[in-house]
Amino acid sequence: MNIDELKSVARAIVAEQKGILAADESNPTIKKRFDAIKLASSEESRRRYRELLFTTEGVERYLGGVILYDETLRQSTADGIPFAALLSSRGIIPGIKVDQGTKTLALHPGEKITEGLDGLRERLAEYKQLGAKFAKWRAVIEIDDRDIPSAYGIHANVHGLARYAALCQEAGIVPIVEPEVLMDDAHDIERCEEVTSQVLAQLFTELDAHHVLFEGMLLKPNMVIAGMKCAQQAGVRQVAEATMRCLRRYVPAAVPGIVFLSGGQSAQDATDHLNEMNKSGPHPWQVSFSYGRALQAPVLAAWQGQENHVEQAQKAFFARCRLNGLARTGTYDRAMEKEAVD
Ligand code: 13P
Repeated sequence: MNIDELKSVARAIVAEQKGILAADESNPTIKKRFDAIKLASSEESRRRYRELLFTTEGVERYLGGVILYDETLRQSTADGIPFAALLSSRGIIPGIKVDQGTKTLALHPGEKITEGLDGLRERLAEYKQLGAKFAKWRAVIEIDDRDIPSAYGIHANVHGLARYAALCQEAGIVPIVEPEVLMDDAHDIERCEEVTSQVLAQLFTELDAHHVLFEGMLLKPNMVIAGMKCAQQAGVRQVAEATMRCLRRYVPAAVPGIVFLSGGQSAQDATDHLNEMNKSGPHPWQVSFSYGRALQAPVLAAWQGQENHVEQAQKAFFARCRLNGLARTGTYDRAMEKEAVD
């Protein structure tokens, strides 16, 4: 493993104003997104959509990396330029989702475990050949009233993350370590902070036990936020304060960057929360984004699968990237939302 290269790739992804576009939806997930705009999901429609995103002018100022799905890493523009080469030529680092989704954790109803460790060493070697310089693995932690997550559920998931991260670094690939505490349920923000704290504390113990170099990885956590079904939603400042308090307690300063997932927040909320956290900086690590839905929802809404809407969709994508770039320095304001779409 080339330590200097791992460090420099990790730092480049979260360079000033920059974050990540998560465009690594699996085929079943992108089908759901396309269903919402009544577009059939085929290899070609998925390719056209990803080409729209990756060829948007100006986004290289705000994107340090893009996470791709296996199929997408093997695809090219209509002119035959492989997507990985296109992104690299624009100064955007290509990455790859390497987990193979979640299944029920055996004998632990209501809890999930991420699959994909078998054969991962060999897959990483191939992905490296195809141009990927970083990877992503998502573990999912659900919350219920009392018993979930169980101690074993957390342990099994952080163990999987650590094994994945060690294999990535061995292969010279920067691991993005994603322990997502879901925001789908009815828990309040305090419960989210409690569970996120437990998960992060155990995660870094496990990463350390696996000899993972903290300087050569990125953390992709959830924000500390109330569940969507909770009657008591927290304000922007409360989310920012609770999230930074939690991360400062449990994430070593050696980690170069935190790249949040959006997890079902609206595009504006995700930007606003990120902005508020950066306003209260400086922090020990770069505080950035790795958004899927919060970057793409406005793009899909504008595009609708129509060739004559591509320009409008690219405008919406550029606007979202720029606003999140501003949130990286705490200089975003909700009033900018209007001018961004005009
Ligand atoms: P969301 O921002 O839509 O949560 O997606 C980010 C991601 O990559 C989840 O694994």
